Amino acid sequence: MPLLTFASPKGGVGKTTLAANVANELSRAGCRVIALDLDPQNALRLHFGLPLRERAGFTHRLAQSPDWRGCLQETAAGIPLLAYGGAGLHETVALHAAVTARPSLLLDPVRDILANPDVYLVADTAPGPSSLLETLLSCTDLLITVLLTDAASVSLIPSLEHGGLLASEWAARANVPSRFVLNQFDPRTRLGGVIFDAARQHLGDRLLGVVYRDEHVAEAIAAQKLLADYAPSSKATHDVAAISQRVLAVLRSGNGADSDSPAVQP
Ligand SMILES: Nc1ncnc2c1ncn2[C@@H]1O[C@H](COP(=O)(O)OP(=O)(O)OP(=O)(O)O)[C@@H](O)[C@H]1O
Ligand SMILES: [Mg+2]
Repeated sequence: MPLLTFASPKGGVGKTTLAANVANELSRAGCRVIALDLDPQNALRLHFGLPLRERAGFTHRLAQSPDWRGCLQETAAGIPLLAYGGAGLHETVALHAAVTARPSLLLDPVRDILANPDVYLVADTAPGPSSLLETLLSCTDLLITVLLTDAASVSLIPSLEHGGLLASEWAARANVPSRFVLNQFDPRTRLGGVIFDAARQHLGDRLLGVVYRDEHVAEAIAAQKLLADYAPSSKATHDVAAISQRVLAVLRSGNGADSDSPAVQP
């Protein structure tokens, strides 16, 4: 039943990596997970080992007949995937316009999936604001904003909280619990610790976790494997597992609170 949405005002920050690998950790923890890709880059499938030439997708016929069951693709991890599908400029613009005009095109199938109380739906989205993200927020149970551990990313936090980016003002009005992940933390840099401390001080328990910069992450996607399969004892795998535990704590608390969790440490 819960919908977990990964988003960010910035591109290349690790949304897709986190969505795929948190989905996998939730699945390993015994949850029934479905992964949903709402980014026309269609990259989530790569983490699940689908062939590069695979172009089938959930969005292809969304405007005509939103048959999500027929679009599920089985993956080696046992997590059914609704890939965005291969799409060009025209199809992408047309789909976004159609969903803006009729949000139910996306919301009906998503609500149908969420009607199953056992299912955790994990959605990856395109960088920045989009009509698909705004639409999805209306049934999102936990919005996770991924940022890099750098000054440019962390400087966005106040504007994220006060609206303007990512439709977060709308999310706040709709009372969608919202959390942050800092990615690519590097303790060897002079700025890494300073930025982490500033973000933790500002966000408090809204900081869900931090993921170290770790070469295994890039290698895992190059091998088209999930992190826990490619490098089970890597630092990044450990970090993603810790974030996934916090995700479960937030979702299970029902009101977005996870006050029993200890403070995030780098
Ligand atoms: N913790 C990490 N350590 C090292 N490399 C990482 C880490 N997280 C992500 N990366 C690498 O950063 C790149 C971008 O990651 P990813 O595609 O997940 O970002 P994204 O936010 O989904 O990008 P986009 O905005 O284009 O959708 C990838 O090459 C990925 O392997
Ligand atoms: Mg992505």
